[in-house]
Amino acid sequence: MSNRIQIFDTTLRDGEQVPGCQLSTDEKIVVARKLEELGVDVIEAGFPISSPGDFLSVVELSKAVNVGVCALTRSKKEDIDVAAEALHHAKRGRIHTGIGSSDVHIKTKFNSTREKVLEQAVWATGYAKAKGYEVEFFAEDAGRADLAFLAKLVESVIAAGADVVNIPDTTGYCLPHLYGKRIAYLFEHVKNIHKATISVHCHNDLGLATANTIAGLMNGARQAEVTINGIGERAGNTSLEEVAMIIQTHKDLEMTTGINSKKLYELSTLVSEMMRMPVQPNKAIVGANAFAHSSGIHQDGFLKNSENYEIINPADVGVPSSSIILTARSGRAALKHRLELLGYQPSKPELDQLYDHFLIVADEKKNVVDDDLITLVANTPLLV
Ligand code: KIV
Ligand code: ZN
Repeated sequence: MSNRIQIFDTTLRDGEQVPGCQLSTDEKIVVARKLEELGVDVIEAGFPISSPGDFLSVVELSKAVNVGVCALTRSKKEDIDVAAEALHHAKRGRIHTGIGSSDVHIKTKFNSTREKVLEQAVWATGYAKAKGYEVEFFAEDAGRADLAFLAKLVESVIAAGADVVNIPDTTGYCLPHLYGKRIAYLFEHVKNIHKATISVHCHNDLGLATANTIAGLMNGARQAEVTINGIGERAGNTSLEEVAMIIQTHKDLEMTTGINSKKLYELSTLVSEMMRMPVQPNKAIVGANAFAHSSGIHQDGFLKNSENYEIINPADVGVPSSSIILTARSGRAALKHRLELLGYQPSKPELDQLYDHFLIVADEKKNVVDDDLITLVANTPLLV
């Protein structure tokens, strides 16, 4: 089995479903070109039957990029026909069709039975395949589906021609070890599973989307469905930057992606601004505080050796540098460091005096910036 993980980006489909995050087709093209530069393998561009705007976006993105372009459908003839038409210009088009697989979806969403859902899934896969594109089948709510039924469904859609089978944890319900076991179970019980790529698509309702995605990959899945900044329905989807950096940082996983990590921060900022969706400051990898050190103990250790408190070099994700935030928790080492960056070389007694004054300012201001330090130096008797 290859260890190259396919990165399937759904920022422009699952991500764009978030209220207030809608983009125009032109804006989607800008993001799609950047995703291509970043190195994603497939871009899910929209749900063409849902609106003329989504249809147009799939058409235009298909023309604009050379990577795979995917269009979402339900397991319905009209959806698949419209998606196939929208993908006409794609260099590598993919129809992503599927249906609910958990009993709660089958009974209360479709008022149906497992048998009928299986039949519909096989039919939709075959119908999509006949359009001449790659076919990805999604077993919606697979995280809560009966495992034996899920295995039967996966086996049947592979037999019907699915190239990729997506096992979504649609509601973000699973625990990582149990989601991983689900994927392992499929590899043990589904005939011809190696004919298809198994994909993981996890939601973040319990804050476990990334952990579940990695558990799925560790158990044999070879495609991860992700969004920039983890945006998506409710609490969001798995974040692309987290998965990419886990794989890059943990060489022990023995996996690779095509992602150029140095472009992650730029793309995160672009998506956040375009979609009017701020990134939480403590967000892993791309949050404003991801490489900011503010307590005295951490600052001192970081200044001695950055590896004491950083497992990723900020430059590797396109963040220009780490930062030392001066607050009342900062120690002398951090103050000295910032003063030296401003061109001052205080002696030990000078630093002691400056530090006393600094603490008074820091208690008042919470966050001490360079202008405050310049004023501090100007008002410190030993230095003036
Ligand atoms: O979360 C989900 O199940 C989905 C499918 C449509 C793939 O987004
Ligand atoms: Zn989803």
